Amino acid sequence: MARSSEQFTCQNCGEIYRKWQGHCDACGEWNSILQEAAASAVPSGLTLGKGHEIVFTALDADRTEHKRSHSGIGELDRVLGGGFVPGSSILIGGDPGIGKSTLLLQAVAKMALAGEACTYISGEEATQQIAMRARRLGLADAPVQLASANSLRDIITSVEKAKIPKLLVIDSIQTVFADNLPSAPGTVAQVRASAQELIRLARKTGLSVILVGHVTKDGQIAGPRVLEHMVDTVLYFEGDRGHQFRILRAVKNRFGATDEIGVFEMTDHGLQEVANPSSLFISDPGKAISGASVFAGMEGTRPLLVEIQGLVAPTPQATPRRAVVGWDSNRLAMILAVLDARCGLSFAGQEVYLNVAGGLRVQEPAADLAVVAALVSSISDVPVPESSLFFGEIGLSGEIRAVGQTDARLKEAAKLGFKCAVIPAGSKIKDSPMKIIEVGHLREIVSLFTETRPVSQAV
Ligand code: TYD
Ligand code: MG
Repeated sequence: MARSSEQFTCQNCGEIYRKWQGHCDACGEWNSILQEAAASAVPSGLTLGKGHEIVFTALDADRTEHKRSHSGIGELDRVLGGGFVPGSSILIGGDPGIGKSTLLLQAVAKMALAGEACTYISGEEATQQIAMRARRLGLADAPVQLASANSLRDIITSVEKAKIPKLLVIDSIQTVFADNLPSAPGTVAQVRASAQELIRLARKTGLSVILVGHVTKDGQIAGPRVLEHMVDTVLYFEGDRGHQFRILRAVKNRFGATDEIGVFEMTDHGLQEVANPSSLFISDPGKAISGASVFAGMEGTRPLLVEIQGLVAPTPQATPRRAVVGWDSNRLAMILAVLDARCGLSFAGQEVYLNVAGGLRVQEPAADLAVVAALVSSISDVPVPESSLFFGEIGLSGEIRAVGQTDARLKEAAKLGFKCAVIPAGSKIKDSPMKIIEVGHLREIVSLFTETRPVSQAV
């Protein structure tokens, strides 16, 4: 019989090789392939014998509405799609020190205070450390079942023996190990096997399990990407270490939308929910400075206003720098090319810097118009008109395309005291108290700035 007990697994993507090699062909990672024992011997050929007959049902067979349980943290419940679904599994990833343990400790403590049984198992910190943190957060008297453990067998036995909790937190999945596998904790085989068992436990008992996952230096959940396929929901907790706020983002959700975000602020009393995030990311809306514009964006169903800052500075270097923080650099390159080709506004010999204030990452193409406003304002040194905001997508021919949810964006802006909105022509709007300037082509945006004062460089 062939020896199939040894295999080589990429620790980044989970690809399996028969021989060791330095480079993973599947994900392109170097030095990520380790020797592991095969998880289980797969029977060769169809020697399984006769199986059991499975019962087929109709789509509407189970009409019982599963009641979601709430964590008591509104922003977390929103990202989950309205609370924890019984029997579901959630993976939460994020950089070290971003606040995953803090958020989950707060969630279990709040749920426990509301009378639900909750278990928090940490493989990274001792129970004293967690208790100390709970005291700092003012949550020390919450009746959470707390433990520090690593063995999967012990965890499952204890959870099944004690009162089955509503919520089980495993911090982190990389520290859990199954003793029937010879590989070290944190390896693909271990992480996959442990997660599988915990997910099975959740399905069987109806508890919700949250697995904390480490991320690699390029921001992926460490270990196997396969983990993301196994769980029902994948959340990322992100933020800039230099800034106070943190964003919880759903990237996969079998029970809700994936475009919702939760905004938190890290304070010395733990994470506080931010109910009105727009005010975090914009400076005084009345102040007019050149090179800064406000973008009315949408994060899921929620409007979010952010300040976009652009700086255009001459340089003697042959290849000027284009640096972007918080936005897609390819998109910036495209916009610079469109400005050059369609409006004759050249950025050759100029360094271009673009920054989304507050450390936020904007992903919507609707930010194009605000980016153009910031850049043209900076190059012409004409401030963006006071209390105005921008949104709209730019096409390669310079046309400005309408984007969705115009009314929600305008409503949020009006609430924050904005007076004027520059939006794509043909947007469908209900009446708004703001002054609306509709623009159909990029040239009209450029002329908003250049007609006030001639630009020295070009046009
Ligand atoms: P932590 O939850 O341990 O991060 P993770 O589990 O994602 O690695 O967060 C620790 C950081 O949060 C640490 O740098 C200190 C900071 N922090 C506060 O600023 N205020 C607090 O009340 C707490 C508990 C932590
Ligand atoms: Mg932690």
